[in-house]
Amino acid sequence: MSSDQPTVTPMTATTNARLELHDIQRGVLHPRPSPYVGTYLLLRIDDRRAGRELIKRLLPAIDSADSPPDPAKQASVSVAFTYQGLKALGVPSDSLESFAPEFRQGMAARAAVLGDRAESSPENWEKPLGTPEVHVALAALSSDAERLATTLEHARKAHEEVAGVEAIWRQDCYQLPSGRTSFGFKDAIGQPAVESSGIPPSNPHEQPIKAGEFILGYPDETSSLPPMPIPEILGRNGTYMAFRKLHTRVAAFRQYLRAKAASREEEALLGAKIVGRWQSGAPLALCPQRDDPDLGADPDRNNAFLYLDDPRGFKCPAGAHARRANPRDAFDHEGSVDVRLHRMIRRGTSYGPMLPDGVLEDDGADRGIVFAFVGAHLRRQFEFVKTQWLNDGIFIGAPSEKDPLAGTNDGSGTFTIPQRPIRRRLRDLPPFVITRGGEYCFAPGLRALKWLGDLET
Ligand code: HEM
Repeated sequence: MSSDQPTVTPMTATTNARLELHDIQRGVLHPRPSPYVGTYLLLRIDDRRAGRELIKRLLPAIDSADSPPDPAKQASVSVAFTYQGLKALGVPSDSLESFAPEFRQGMAARAAVLGDRAESSPENWEKPLGTPEVHVALAALSSDAERLATTLEHARKAHEEVAGVEAIWRQDCYQLPSGRTSFGFKDAIGQPAVESSGIPPSNPHEQPIKAGEFILGYPDETSSLPPMPIPEILGRNGTYMAFRKLHTRVAAFRQYLRAKAASREEEALLGAKIVGRWQSGAPLALCPQRDDPDLGADPDRNNAFLYLDDPRGFKCPAGAHARRANPRDAFDHEGSVDVRLHRMIRRGTSYGPMLPDGVLEDDGADRGIVFAFVGAHLRRQFEFVKTQWLNDGIFIGAPSEKDPLAGTNDGSGTFTIPQRPIRRRLRDLPPFVITRGGEYCFAPGLRALKWLGDLET
């Protein structure tokens, strides 16, 4: 049953199916605590029985999406597998072949599509990222460093007892109390509201998105059931994830702004135009002239906006990172792009030390974000946004322009800022973000994890 294009199953009687929150990993749907410290671990399974034993031991640590947050808990844990990982666990071949083709290929094989070239190309990735050795991805997060250390110590002991599974990569990460990441901008604000998830929407102007866009087994925005891996117990309530370690050239970004601006105020404005939000998180769409830190900090207001009243981008340029990544209603009048088919749940986290405020020279430290995508469609969500909206400008009528923050710029790119009487054009955009590596993963539901742990052959 191998096919490159999984067929879309027509929707049946499950239109109003309720989300089985008790079977979905909490980390898939719920925002992370803020602030937090965390650790990503990658494991290699050398012995399938050991891999299954590890899953059994992990299961009690993984919360479901309907469990209330437990302040007494040491840390919250999420788990996902690469295609090679499912293979190493001994998942039958007809089941393996039923997964999305991009997932089966893996992120490194998609490098040309994703624009991971030159410094960002897989041959320069941090090992073992992008190699067939990566099988299991674990994320452990806690609001408290001591509790995280205790959880990791338990994990280390459990893992030592299970010979045949090796920890091959570790990345510590954190979210600052301000929510700001290395370029200085507050992140993780814009998230889709997921129908039936019980998580309150942050943008009252948008209809919640169908759960099937994010969780397998439910109707999506096209009123179809997205292709789901077989058997049903493995696919249902699972989802795809893409994680990428992205190095950020913070000093280069600051130097660029300094060179283009006549004052500190203008530097802040150019940075906001590039991102689509001020550093505080306040959106240009709501406060185009100057930052409003109270608005940026207010979760009831900082995502409550659309773009239709700003079609020419005088407030927020169409090419700004956040507007490219989610143009909201900007295309509603044209009807040509259905933005709702290209949404994603995002989990971004910082790694490495922050470059102190005001420093313009690179200190050589490795810093950036570990970006994580969650959604039912790797191709039409993550890959589409990365390739059509961040790495290209056709959709906004500027074919030669890429995302000024996270696009595949090479020093020759431009970024247009609409303003009166004449637009401003920033030139010679260098790459501010370098891919250090990443993987496509599948995060199974809890019943599926048990099924994987109980595999026998
Ligand atoms: C190092 C690389 C990146 C940095 C520093 C970065 C930073 C940001 C910031 C500061 C925001 C605004 C805050 C917010 O709305 O949550 C944002 C929004 C967003 N970014 Fe990124 N980003 C990066 C890469 C990416 C990539 C690779 C993608 C997708 C392929 C992406 C997708 C999004 C989306 C979907 C939004 C939300 C837009 C909205 O709903 O308004 N970002 N990002």
